[in-house]
Amino acid sequence: MRIFVTGGAGYIGSVCVEELLKCGHEVLVFDNMEEGHQRAVVSPATLTVGDINNFEQVNAAVSGFKPEAVIHFAGKALVGESMTNPYVYYQTNVMGGTNLLEAAVRVGCKKFVFSSSCATYGLPEKMPMDERIPQRPINPYGHSKLIFEQVLKWYEQVHGVTFTALRYFNAAGASKVNGEDRKIETHLIPNVLDVALGKKDHMSIFGNEYNTPDGTCIRDYVHVIDLADAHIKALDRASSGFYNLGSGDGYSVLQVIETARKITGHAIPAKMMPPRPGDPPRLVASANKVKMDMGWKPRFNKLSTIIETAWEWRKAHPNGYNS
Ligand code: UFG
Repeated sequence: MRIFVTGGAGYIGSVCVEELLKCGHEVLVFDNMEEGHQRAVVSPATLTVGDINNFEQVNAAVSGFKPEAVIHFAGKALVGESMTNPYVYYQTNVMGGTNLLEAAVRVGCKKFVFSSSCATYGLPEKMPMDERIPQRPINPYGHSKLIFEQVLKWYEQVHGVTFTALRYFNAAGASKVNGEDRKIETHLIPNVLDVALGKKDHMSIFGNEYNTPDGTCIRDYVHVIDLADAHIKALDRASSGFYNLGSGDGYSVLQVIETARKITGHAIPAKMMPPRPGDPPRLVASANKVKMDMGWKPRFNKLSTIIETAWEWRKAHPNGYNS
């Protein structure tokens, strides 16, 4: 298939492009390069630099390529940042996404795969989280993703779009080629590994008085190659749906740091800090629906494997893609 991939020069998008190419798809990456890297776009995928917030730009790229499917990774994705700057979250995640959807529909492309988030649920009443629990986001990031899910439903009704919205839990790990390299790194695992590399002198743990066994937040870490795999399976779907994408296992911040200590052989000193605004205490997926409907199963579901792959990439790229 001819596939238009927004955000395909970024972390999750670039790994998905690798997997799409392995399956023989033709790929055009559309990325504003704010967090993207040219080197992350593997050949023979082509890169068009442009912004989904600019309808003319995205419309020209989509109408030139005439894709059979769109995979939409581009977006703002930091919980903490959304609590201080909500505007860019609604602008990019809602309006930018709608620009892309409209451009796709205008060239008759009605297959759409969207990177949604478990942040659309807010504070879940039930653990593990299935798709039926109420969506009540507690930060603008989660809210902006939820609004775009609703936009997709309306485009399904009005224009006959078939969509798959994948609600990611915590993407982590790396492929052999691509990994995490952001301008400002706020994520747990790359920060822990930067301490092990000697680039930072300690880890900050944001809160240890949550209602969890060790007091630190629990997340469901899912390997980026497994995430990519779900997008490829979604291309075959004939009906629309919302799916949680997590491994089903939760690990606390302290467990992640402890595992990284074993893998890296570094002491990784850590300091307790106040909680980060907008952080839910515990997010763990029930991945039953995606397993049943799509036959998706994580291949790299051990936390140690996830951290090992991230560590291999980080050691090979101590200064990210400029290494
Ligand atoms: N954390 C620390 N210290 C750090 C960084 C993070 O203690 O230096 C803690 C956070 O407070 C949180 C946990 O580690 O409790 C995970 O934090 P991340 O920043 O790695 O990830 P988030 O869970 O905040 O968010 C990520 C993505 C979102 C996505 C969400 C789904 O950034 O886009 O996972 O859970 F929606």
